[in-house]
Amino acid sequence: MKMKMLLFLLLLGIVGPHCTSARTHSLKYFYTASSGVPNFPEFVVVGLVDEVEMMHYDSNTKRAEPKQDWMSNITAKIPQYWERETQNLMGKQQIYKNNIEIVKQRLNQTGG
Ligand SMILES: *[C@@H]1O[C@H](CO)[C@@H](O)[C@H](O)[C@H]1NC(C)=O
Ligand SMILES: *[C@@H]1O[C@H](CO)[C@@H](O)[C@H](O)[C@H]1NC(C)=O
Repeated sequence: MKMKMLLFLLLLGIVGPHCTSARTHSLKYFYTASSGVPNFPEFVVVGLVDEVEMMHYDSNTKRAEPKQDWMSNITAKIPQYWERETQNLMGKQQIYKNNIEIVKQRLNQTGG
């Protein structure tokens, strides 16, 4: 959470000089967990800034990665940023996987 805020402040710092205070920006993270969906990872995370995908993680690659050059450039100044994000999201993946199993049990869902 602290890293997210730091990154957000960094993004504001980068964007700030070009467009003064009035403009609103958005930072969104989507976590998607699923089970048994063909050709779709069980756990996917995307991070968006102003609706543009700037980071991605999924349970196939098991790696958090930048999706924009500017994101690579910003995070290049933060040592171990992607390593930490990867570790964090691997932990989240396990939690979401457990939650899916609990939901399946409660709904007597034997398939995906
Ligand atoms: C990212 O950094 C590279 C190397 O310094 C630079 O050439 C490029 O313009 C930068 N890209 C963005 C989008 O800031
Ligand atoms: C799941 O199965 C159990 C045992 O057959 C039953 O008691 C329960 O009502 C079922 N739950 C749902 C949500 O269908």
